[in-house]
Amino acid sequence: MNFKEIIENRRAINFFDPKKEVSEEKIKEMINMAAKSPSSFNLQPWSLMILKDQETKEKLKKLAWDQPKVTEAPVIMIFLADRNGWKEGHPFVEKNFKEMVKAGSMSEEQHDWFLDAAKSLYGADIEKQTAFAAKNTAFFAMSLMFAAKSLGLDSHPMDGFDHDGVKKEFKIPDHYWIPLLLAVGYYNTSETLAPPKWRKTYDEIVVNFD
Ligand SMILES: Cc1cc2nc3c(=O)[nH]c(=O)nc-3n(C[C@H](O)[C@H](O)[C@H](O)COP(=O)(O)O)c2cc1C
Repeated sequence: MNFKEIIENRRAINFFDPKKEVSEEKIKEMINMAAKSPSSFNLQPWSLMILKDQETKEKLKKLAWDQPKVTEAPVIMIFLADRNGWKEGHPFVEKNFKEMVKAGSMSEEQHDWFLDAAKSLYGADIEKQTAFAAKNTAFFAMSLMFAAKSLGLDSHPMDGFDHDGVKKEFKIPDHYWIPLLLAVGYYNTSETLAPPKWRKTYDEIVVNFD
């Protein structure tokens, strides 16, 4: 499938075949592909929880509007957007800086300048921190959906869930915000998929405010 075909064929699949497992290799491959996503300062403020166990998925389903795909899909991913992922001392922030020094794009002396630049953009309040974490994690999520499709898998993003309830049930630390859940698996071909949804046109998307 070329990229245009991936774009055309990806759908939010409501019906998964619960008997068709997704191999560990495919899960790793799609995550490694999605990891190529761009992010602000390359900070990559995303993490994933991967749920496969039926009992655990049942717990999540109760908190996700009882959507059947949560238990029918063999794999559910909880996307975690790290609101602290720009802060000095954060392990990945410091790793990112070290990698930039190693690659020659920054010098050791620029450490404080770099951290201050990130702080000036994201440090003001929780809204800025959530926006930072959520937008970057959303790019990662979209890449993951396309990666899944390219590997012959289907997916379904969901924000129909009790955000705080999921955080509590899965002991997710407070600095994470959950932009979405993602069901991943194989389309159950015995069920009929709704026709493709309408999309805004070029003229409806492009605006100006003269
Ligand atoms: C962030 C996000 C959250 C969504 N949440 C849900 C959801 O909770 N339940 C659901 O049935 N569909 C959900 N959807 C799926 C959308 O309804 C679907 O993507 C849209 O109607 C377009 O359909 P398509 O993806 O098949 O082209 C969500 C999609 C996105 C991107």
